[in-house]
Amino acid sequence: MRIVVRGGEVVGPDGPVRADLGVEDGRIVVVGPDLEAPRDAQVVDASGCWVGPGLVDLHTHLREPGHEEAETIESGARAAARGGYSAVVAMPNTEPALDTAAMVAFVQARGRGACVEVAVAGAITQGRRGELLAPMAEMAALGVRLFTDDGRGVEDPLVLRRAMEYARGLGVRLAEHCEDERLCADGVMHEGALSGRLGLVGRPALAEELMVARDVELARLTGCALHVMHLSSARALAIVTAARAEGLPVTAEVTPHHLTLDETAVEGYDPTFKVHPPLRPRRDVDALVAALRAGSIDAVATDHAPHAPETKDRTFDEAPPGMLGLEHAAALTLEALGGVDAPGAAVAFFERLSRRPARIAGLEVADARSGLGAHGGALVIGEDANLVVFDPRRRWRARREDLASRARNTPYHGRDLTGRARALLVGGRVVLDGEALT
Ligand code: DOR
Repeated sequence: MRIVVRGGEVVGPDGPVRADLGVEDGRIVVVGPDLEAPRDAQVVDASGCWVGPGLVDLHTHLREPGHEEAETIESGARAAARGGYSAVVAMPNTEPALDTAAMVAFVQARGRGACVEVAVAGAITQGRRGELLAPMAEMAALGVRLFTDDGRGVEDPLVLRRAMEYARGLGVRLAEHCEDERLCADGVMHEGALSGRLGLVGRPALAEELMVARDVELARLTGCALHVMHLSSARALAIVTAARAEGLPVTAEVTPHHLTLDETAVEGYDPTFKVHPPLRPRRDVDALVAALRAGSIDAVATDHAPHAPETKDRTFDEAPPGMLGLEHAAALTLEALGGVDAPGAAVAFFERLSRRPARIAGLEVADARSGLGAHGGALVIGEDANLVVFDPRRRWRARREDLASRARNTPYHGRDLTGRARALLVGGRVVLDGEALT
């Protein structure tokens, strides 16, 4: 045993159990109470903490290649490790886009040198232009399991239908950014009374709802697995919930910001709060929180969207949309779940942040093609040691100066949070210990 994780509560699918873990050669080799640590073993202190599978982010913008001034694979991975993530799914809206096997192989190779595992999402269409399908089979042969044109959805229903037919045959999932751009008409915030008062052009919730409804119907027609990204409207949520009740192969994620911020955050015209889809009214936030608690939303995914200060420091109209997420998401998810003392909080926390996202991304088993290990497991003997030690009672204050990310566009600067990753093992290596990167 080279590493002993000692003194915590191991959170399996049935709840927390007091146990220590021994790790050797990248795997969990022993689980039990009060393990003796060999003299040369590294001891990770987990007292007062939950020990669970490393978190998995379905939606991370790493910006490499093309916008390394905002983030790199390496800096984004460090932000992920600080947040408790053992794996992230890198979005393909880089420049150039990740729309060929060569581009996927480039990010996979860079990811192998990063401190957390980097899975790649491939683009659905060439250049994410929504016209011609990208070579999904060639990317799937490298282990890509999720495809998306994120940043925008596939607008043409015939192109999406063909993509779904192709994806179904390959056994991969399509993830959609559901906002009809024509209905959004270059809007910059949620369309409603507040956008009228602020004099900003709105993006109607209808733009999201129509696209979710259309995509659900195309998933019904084709049998393709559909993942709805960053759900933000209560009505769109209702469409997804009804589809799932019918047994359609539809999963959904919500971001920390759509769970914890509402449209009033943009009243000061601070572009930090500009995001697509936009922050919505309180009634939508409340519906999303209730669905997260009930389990009708599968996952919290960050949509970590780094932007360099010189691009974000523009007028609200001109600034690019997006906000950081990786380093604060776990605490915000725990808050949305009702806090550490809410019944079932520990199990729900790891379900929404690790187990279900791992399954959606196809990361629940190791894959020789991508070289990625297994994530989101039950922490039993023989499993890959991708695990987080999370202190659910730790109080701290988010500050933009403290971020590991290269960018600074967090909407949570100054906010008091509860819950923080104390340690993280990735592939059996300690990459975070005592809240510090090793
Ligand atoms: O606000 C957003 N920013 N939404 C997206 O879908 C893309 C993201 C980005 O890449 O900056």
